[in-house]
Amino acid sequence: MCGIVAAAAQRDVAPLLIAGLKALEYRGYDSAGLAVLADGQVRRVRAKGKVREMEAAYLADPFPGGTGIAHTRWATHGVPNEANAHPHMVGRVTIVHNGIIENYAALRTELQAKGYAFSSETDTEVMAALIDVNLSKGLSLREAVLATVRELDGAYAIAVMSRDEPGRVVGARRGAPLLVGVGIGEHFLGSDAQALIQVTNKTIYLDEDDVVEITRERAQVYTLDGQPAARDVHESELSADAVERGEYRHYMQKEIFEQPRAVADTLEARIHAHGVLPNIFGVDGEELLAKVKGLHIVACGTSYHAGLVAKYWIEDYARLPVSVEVASEYRYREAVVPADTLFVAISQSGETADTLAAMRESRRRGYLGTLAICNVPESSVVREADLKLMTRAGPEIGVASTKAFTTQLSALALLALHLARQRGLEQARYQDLCAQLLRLPRAIDEALKLEPQIVALAERFVHRHHALFLGRGAHYPVALEGSLKLKEISYIHAEAYPAGELKHGPLALVDEDMPVIAVAPNGPLLDKLKSNLQEVRARGGELVVFADSAAHIDGNAARGVVLRVDAGGEFIAPAVFTVPLQLLAYHVAVLRGTDVDQPRNLAKSVTVE
Ligand code: M6R
Repeated sequence: MCGIVAAAAQRDVAPLLIAGLKALEYRGYDSAGLAVLADGQVRRVRAKGKVREMEAAYLADPFPGGTGIAHTRWATHGVPNEANAHPHMVGRVTIVHNGIIENYAALRTELQAKGYAFSSETDTEVMAALIDVNLSKGLSLREAVLATVRELDGAYAIAVMSRDEPGRVVGARRGAPLLVGVGIGEHFLGSDAQALIQVTNKTIYLDEDDVVEITRERAQVYTLDGQPAARDVHESELSADAVERGEYRHYMQKEIFEQPRAVADTLEARIHAHGVLPNIFGVDGEELLAKVKGLHIVACGTSYHAGLVAKYWIEDYARLPVSVEVASEYRYREAVVPADTLFVAISQSGETADTLAAMRESRRRGYLGTLAICNVPESSVVREADLKLMTRAGPEIGVASTKAFTTQLSALALLALHLARQRGLEQARYQDLCAQLLRLPRAIDEALKLEPQIVALAERFVHRHHALFLGRGAHYPVALEGSLKLKEISYIHAEAYPAGELKHGPLALVDEDMPVIAVAPNGPLLDKLKSNLQEVRARGGELVVFADSAAHIDGNAARGVVLRVDAGGEFIAPAVFTVPLQLLAYHVAVLRGTDVDQPRNLAKSVTVE
């Protein structure tokens, strides 16, 4: 999604803005631009494509100035081209915007009647014109922004400059992230802390509907009614190293290999050999969770797949009913909420528009409480939840989630164990599950050693157009996640099915051109899965089976490959078996030469509906 960086400083800000945009590239975008205000004039540069293309255009004709705003655009209204790229300029106003203004068409018509002409198809230019109208009434930039945002329906994070107010940038947010960076004699705005880590680690997180005015000397926050508001300054723990790619070819590869550490961090000081610590959900957590009679888990994409795995765990071990739903569906239907149901939102970013909206919607539906499983401590989802359990994956830059998923599984495993113990799971069983979870970092480390074999396996997929993933039980969501990874970064059409569903339809697709990838750890369903695989073999399908090292799967049959994965236990197997599927998707994408970290059309943080 779009990214924003802005600065009010004494030094020239264009290089800082460009560095900030580079740190936001992971969010996904298709054009970039920046504008600098100096001596009452605004200079602007914009380009379709990557930040480096905009940077090259800037370097060909650089301009100085200490006040500026910059943007990476992920197209919503209008195609990705230079005219639609931000910043947009109307009258005295220059603006960058992340989000969607729902009433922009009506506003545009009104503004055209007032004589405004528009040079882009964007909703953003309409906002700029509206601010300009309000400036014409004699309002200051801050007052004009306040007056404007009160007229808007939809979601926005914006940074705005006026030609008439040197040294000042006004920001505002509703439903899209924006934070303030506090430097020494300089202030910044950014879509996240990563964008600003090059200049400061001190940040102010804005609340919904906040408006902020930054100058070199100060950052002042206002509520929507124009009253000054105090907001805390946080010191970010993020280090510049955490967002470096290091020795790896892509962020995704780095993040896959960070999983043993990320999972160990997520479990640290939360579980030991005797059990899960009681206080990990906060002071009220234990008491609230003891009352829970059921859970509704809501999330999108990879986070939704993590929720599906958790359903198996929580129903098996805690015997509580769990429903799992994608947020974009949940938010628009009238879900039935039985008494004492816990609403659980899972989100890596904590800013996904649908998940956030679903969580807000849940407030009116009478849940016992809300729990956020999230990777970004100051995100909206975390701030609005009653209980939180942070995953500690560190920044995930690759659009394809990897360590976010396995750390979500780790957090959800802690939740399942906590609920199970509260509901009287037998001690020996409970301790076995805890011991398995403690082994997870090492089991993932072992699975990563399969990389050389997977590099060879990836060759088989380079020229494929389709793939079918199969799993049973908690490995069906793992198959879903494997197929999502393959399709999003290699652009190979992939689907996942519970293996038992094969002969109810998808078997018709199986022939010598359809590779079938099966997730086959040991467990009560292994024999059933083997029968499903025979059905594939009998139709000439090419099989790739990820099997537990102790499983007896015939790897010698024609047109088949078996890779041995040591699951480390039935409970943790879904997290372990995910790893080779991530590696497979990654190496297929590398061989196909796609943009692995920023696959086409996708954004990392989906902050619009
Ligand atoms: O930040 P979130 O976890 O809320 O994001 C939800 C999805 O957009 C995300 O999981 C997406 O499906 C993955 N990045 C795909 O790999």
